[in-house]
Amino acid sequence: MQITHSIPELRAALAQRGKPAFVPTMGNLHDGHLSLMRLAGQHGDVTVASIFVNRLQFLPHEDFDSYPRTWDADCAKLEWAGCDVLFAPREKDLYPEPQVFKILPDPLLADMLEGEFRPGFFTGVCTVVMKLFSSVFATTGGGAAVFGMKDYQQLMVIRRMVQQFAMPIEIIAGSTTRAADGLALSSRNGYLSATEREQAMGLSQALKALAEAARRGDTPLAALEAQAMQDLRAKGWAPDYLTVRNRSDLLAPADAYVAADTPLVALGAARLGNTRLIDNLEF
Ligand code: PAF
Repeated sequence: MQITHSIPELRAALAQRGKPAFVPTMGNLHDGHLSLMRLAGQHGDVTVASIFVNRLQFLPHEDFDSYPRTWDADCAKLEWAGCDVLFAPREKDLYPEPQVFKILPDPLLADMLEGEFRPGFFTGVCTVVMKLFSSVFATTGGGAAVFGMKDYQQLMVIRRMVQQFAMPIEIIAGSTTRAADGLALSSRNGYLSATEREQAMGLSQALKALAEAARRGDTPLAALEAQAMQDLRAKGWAPDYLTVRNRSDLLAPADAYVAADTPLVALGAARLGNTRLIDNLEF
């Protein structure tokens, strides 16, 4: 694996190597990232990963400073997963001066759910992804990029950005990797205490129960969502949202009761102790 830090170094490493398949990350890698890496291997001539903890997508009270930086372990995992080129820019490589040009995502998609509870998050994500995409793809005439479905709304926002800017990049969705008890793998799971880790599957269980109840179709969705939030609170969680949305636009289904064949997704975000987890389930 070739390690690059600056954009010119990266572009030199990618010259004449064909179409890149790119997995952007913030490091602290787990099996979920590695499965995205392996998926990338099926969609390009050269696999590229990035590690960059992007200050722009953290709110002032969030965990930018304490976000785990696990460089040696990450490099070993990427080698093992078959990554060809790693792009690990320093902050001054991506933001040599304050990043005053920003990507403002479609508010209809980005101001709800995660965007409501983390204002500015998707602007930060889109801005860095645009910059990472231009670093990786500008000299290669496009390629593919892989994003995990665990960050469901992020995946949709990025797809829309790529479509609106007519970028020659195919966005591939990688399915969520889960622990045996159903907990979605996440870099932030490492913040959980041993006791919290034992309770952490509660979020995926709550989404499964919500999806099953919604599919039965005998109770209005709003009542099911309120009940799901209450049940999770009773187990010691502080939920931000647990909700059923259309897969197409993430809006609430028009019908208060769900039709059997509507493609839906249950999405949730909740805090257990100091750790905020998100998850989703298509149904
Ligand atoms: O999903 C993430 O890890 C980040 O939001 C991303 C896409 C790498 C941008 O910083």
